[in-house]
Amino acid sequence: MAKIDFGGVWEDVTTAEEFTLEQARKVLKDEVVAVVGYGVQGRGQALNMRDNGIRCIVGEGDYNWQKAIDEGFVPGETLFPPIEAAKRATIIQYLLSDAGQKAMWPELKPQLTKGKALYFSHGFSIVYKEQTDVIPPADIDVIMVAPKGAGRTVRDNFLAGSGINSSYAVFQDATGRAKERTLAVGVAIGSGYLFPTTFEKEVYSDLTGERGVLMGCLAGVMEAQYNVLRKHGHSPSEAFNETVEELTQSLIGLIAQNGMDWMYANCSTTAQRGALDWKGRFRDAVAPIFEELYDRVLTGKETAIVLAANSAPDYRDKLAAELEAMRTSEMWQAGAAVRSLRPERRKK
Ligand SMILES: NC(=O)c1ccc[n+]([C@@H]2O[C@H](COP(=O)([O-])OP(=O)(O)OC[C@H]3O[C@@H](n4cnc5c(N)ncnc54)[C@H](O)[C@@H]3O)[C@@H](O)[C@H]2O)c1
Repeated sequence: MAKIDFGGVWEDVTTAEEFTLEQARKVLKDEVVAVVGYGVQGRGQALNMRDNGIRCIVGEGDYNWQKAIDEGFVPGETLFPPIEAAKRATIIQYLLSDAGQKAMWPELKPQLTKGKALYFSHGFSIVYKEQTDVIPPADIDVIMVAPKGAGRTVRDNFLAGSGINSSYAVFQDATGRAKERTLAVGVAIGSGYLFPTTFEKEVYSDLTGERGVLMGCLAGVMEAQYNVLRKHGHSPSEAFNETVEELTQSLIGLIAQNGMDWMYANCSTTAQRGALDWKGRFRDAVAPIFEELYDRVLTGKETAIVLAANSAPDYRDKLAAELEAMRTSEMWQAGAAVRSLRPERRKK
C-alpha cells in the first residue's frame, strides 16, 4: 500500500505492482468465484478474471444466458443458473442489477454458508437494507470492489492493457481473510489501482455522481445551452458543435491528460477570461441542487425510486421509450449527423 498526496490529503492506494496478479492468484487458488449476473458489470469482471487465470463460473438466467455461452462459458461446467452457481462458489459476486439483488435475495441467502464471501460492486443493497432486506449472515465475509467506470470500460481497458480504478471496502470480516480476498479479486478483475472506502461512502458518492456531473447534470447542462443557442437562431450544427462535439472531441481529452488549469492555460485568452469569470457563477447556481441531491441520496429517497421503477414489469419498455425520445430529439439527431461527418467515419 502506498500513501499518495491528493492535493494535501494523504490517502492509501494499492496498485497492481504492490499487490501483484501472482499474489492474487495465490490468495484465490482454492476459491471458486461465481459471478452471479452476467450484465454490464458481471461480464467485464468475469471475462477479466477468466483471462487472469482465476477459477471463475457464471450464474445467469434468461437475460444473458446466450451471451455468456457466446463468450465461451459452458453450461454445466462454467455457466449455471444463479443459485446453482452460488451453491458451487466460495466467493459470490452479486452482480445482478440492484433491484434484481433485492428480488433474488431470499433464494440466495441459504447458499451463503460459513466462510464464504459475498461480494458487491456497489454499496446499494447493504446500505439501504431497510428497503432491500439484504442482511447477510454473520459468519461470512461481506466485501466490495467498485470499479469507477462503466462495465464496458472494465473489459475494454483490460484488453487495451490499462485498467480501471476501483474503490474497495470490507463490511464484515468473518474469516480474517476478508481484506486479502477483496484486494485479490480487485486485482483479478483488472483494477488499475484500488483505494479504500466504506459501503456507505461508496454508495452516497456513486449515486450523487451519476445523477450529477457524470450523467444527469451533464445531459441537463448540455440541453440548456443547446436550447438557448437554438432559441437565438443558431443552426443545429453550430449549437451541437459548440455544446457537445468540441467538448468530447477536444477539451475533455486535454483535461484527462493534463488537468483543467492546463486546458485553461492552452486555450485562447478570450475563452480563458470568460471561463474563469463564469465558472464560479455556474458552481454557485448548481450547488443548491447538489445539496438537495446528496440529501435525497442520504435519506434513501433516490433508492426508493430506483427500486420501485426497476422492479416494475414494464421497466424495460418505459426505459426504451425514454431513451428513444432522447435519441430522436433534435439535439441528439444533430449529434448523429455531426458524428457521421467525422473524417474517420466519412472514409468508411
Ligand atoms: N453498469 C455499470 O457500469 C456499473 C458500474 C459500477 C458498478 N455497478 C454495479 O454492478 C452491479 C450490476 O450492475 P449491472 O449494470 O451490470 O446490471 P445489469 O442491469 O446489466 O443486470 C445484470 C443482471 O441482473 C439480472 N437482472 C437484471 N434486471 C433484473 C430484474 N429486474 N430482476 C432480476 N434480475 C435482473 C440479469 O441477470 C442481468 O444479466 C450493480 O450493483 C451495479 O450498481 C454497475
